Amino acid sequence: MEFYEVVKTRRSIRSYKPTEIPKESMKRVLEAARIAPSGHNRQFWKFYVVEDPEKKKATAEACKGQMWIAEAPAVIVATGWKVPISRGGYMGDMTFTMDVSIAFTQLLLAARAEGLGTCWIGDFSNDAVKKALDIPVNEYVVAVSPIGYPDKGAFSENTKRKSLEEITEWI
Ligand SMILES: Cc1cc2nc3c(=O)[nH]c(=O)nc-3n(C[C@H](O)[C@H](O)[C@H](O)COP(=O)(O)O)c2cc1C
Repeated sequence: MEFYEVVKTRRSIRSYKPTEIPKESMKRVLEAARIAPSGHNRQFWKFYVVEDPEKKKATAEACKGQMWIAEAPAVIVATGWKVPISRGGYMGDMTFTMDVSIAFTQLLLAARAEGLGTCWIGDFSNDAVKKALDIPVNEYVVAVSPIGYPDKGAFSENTKRKSLEEITEWI
């Protein structure tokens, strides 16, 4: 799929078919996250692929009860951890939140290219997600997304956006 077509037609998908995701497709999506850039090339990140139905349900509950998340065949939980040195960090030891977000964005776009729907989920309790999935204490959950073939709400061009004139200034 052409890059700009991917970017233009990625949408948040909130309804999924139970159809299994081919392993090769999932691997390509994860690979897109793996090769993402990070500050000092630290790669302080981990991507949990949650397929177990009970664990998916517990994750959805931890996402403030957005239970539709558990309908997807898999849920990806991206975590990162604090940078032990504070030099050169845009946000000090919390710089990993940027790194993980970049990788997660690449993952979401790769999913679109594979015909897979996703929805960035930010409304969750960090502690509850970690408890549900037994994630190590030093890790922070940065983003969650269900992943699967869209049921209702097909991909389409995003329309509800500010105009380019509103958000840019050529100086
Ligand atoms: C940081 C972040 C957090 C979000 N959290 C949620 C969420 O908890 N639940 C949800 O349904 N959508 C969530 N979204 C999706 C946004 O609502 C969505 O991206 C936005 O409305 C634009 O729509 P689009 O993704 O279809 O282009 C989140 C998106 C971002 C980037």
